[in-house]
Amino acid sequence: MQTSTERGAWGSRLGFILAAAGSAVGLGNIWGFPTQVGQGGGAAFVLLYLGCVFFICAPIMIAELVIGRRAQKDPVTAFKVIRPGTPWWLTGMLGVLAGVGILSFYSVIAGWTIAYVWFAATGAPGTGDATSAFFGNFVGNGTTSFGLTVVVLIATALIILGGVRAGIERATKIMMPALFVLLILLAIRAVTLPGADAGLAYYLRPDMSKIWDINVVNAALGQAFFSLSLGMGAMITYGSYLSRGTSIGSAAAWVVVLDTSVALLAGFIIFPAGFSIAGFDPSGGGPGLIFTVLPRLFDSLPGGHLFGAAFFTLLTVAALTSTISLLEVPVAHLIDARGWTRKRAVWVVTGLTAALAIPSALSNGASATLSALPGVGMSFLDLMATIWNEMALPIGGFLIAVFVGWVWRVPDALVELNAEGARMPFAGLWSFLIRYVCPAAILLIIVFKVRALLG
Ligand code: TRP
Repeated sequence: MQTSTERGAWGSRLGFILAAAGSAVGLGNIWGFPTQVGQGGGAAFVLLYLGCVFFICAPIMIAELVIGRRAQKDPVTAFKVIRPGTPWWLTGMLGVLAGVGILSFYSVIAGWTIAYVWFAATGAPGTGDATSAFFGNFVGNGTTSFGLTVVVLIATALIILGGVRAGIERATKIMMPALFVLLILLAIRAVTLPGADAGLAYYLRPDMSKIWDINVVNAALGQAFFSLSLGMGAMITYGSYLSRGTSIGSAAAWVVVLDTSVALLAGFIIFPAGFSIAGFDPSGGGPGLIFTVLPRLFDSLPGGHLFGAAFFTLLTVAALTSTISLLEVPVAHLIDARGWTRKRAVWVVTGLTAALAIPSALSNGASATLSALPGVGMSFLDLMATIWNEMALPIGGFLIAVFVGWVWRVPDALVELNAEGARMPFAGLWSFLIRYVCPAAILLIIVFKVRALLG
């Protein structure tokens, strides 16, 4: 039934979905999402998050991919190709900077997950309340934290340099389903723990008064952009490797559904497991939430040490398929736009990122000043996450939506989306969302957030 060219196209579509889903699924889903739900007050945050994912972020995922495929270039050059002689390339530049900024704190947390492979295997975090003290002690050691950060950055650099893309894709094909299965098993265990009901209620029954808190709305928007790898041109870069005739709409739908399922599953593990612990405060864990709750869950399982080690191994792989996409944006830019060699680009960006990662690695107890910045009330790592996730990514997303909806314009984008017989599903709905809903909603959130910050 299928001609060989059709099979070929299918193969590249699958490879692309794996790469894009690999970029999207990462610490944002399993570490970030539960942490944000805990700080945003539970189910209200979940509801806002889902709204942001489907009405704002999914249309922007399509917009990024179509820009990339049309231009076949890095994010900065892509804007120059589609609208030469205009300042729109600055949107791509913001993305290049965001790539370095996000990687600088992401690699610190990915370093913790590497250590937890070993800790979980040996039972080092202990049981009960000891897990929190253990985590605090561990991240408070700046040398260890930064050392692990460097391991993550070098591993990322070597993967991108070695051209072992095919190997990574093969690994992702096995590891991602394995991660998914493990998450489902853990969720089943967590919801059957005594006291899990309170966790489920917290996670699923929204307190409507929290829906109107602009800080929670803004955090949900930032988290949705972060989790889907949007707003900084990562999907422009990945789209630039796509061939015509691949349906961008349905590929994007796959990535959005996979990413969102993994995040929701993580919540079904952390909250029931957390609330089964006496005196649990979901907002109290901060960045340590999964590192303190999960070891206790593993401890309640037969063969828990093995389970725990497998879980943190898969989480580390998921984090690495994300760091690859973060590093690839600035690297692709230096190669495409400045004519650097791949090698030079990779090592220069890795070095810069490592330098910027130092204060984040020291901000979890090692340095008192960095751990609670005077006048800011948060750690340097939290400040980085806030600046890039809650500010830079939504602003980048806003500019991308305006660009596709009003500058390049929907009819021209649709020509690319429908190229070579691909059919863009729900084209009318997408056109409406990308032109009106995305820009207006993001702008409103930014304006109210700035007002709240000033007032
Ligand atoms: N989406 C990844 C996660 O959830 C993080 C990530 C990778 C990212 N590439 C990105 C976030 C590009 C923003 C932009 O862990």
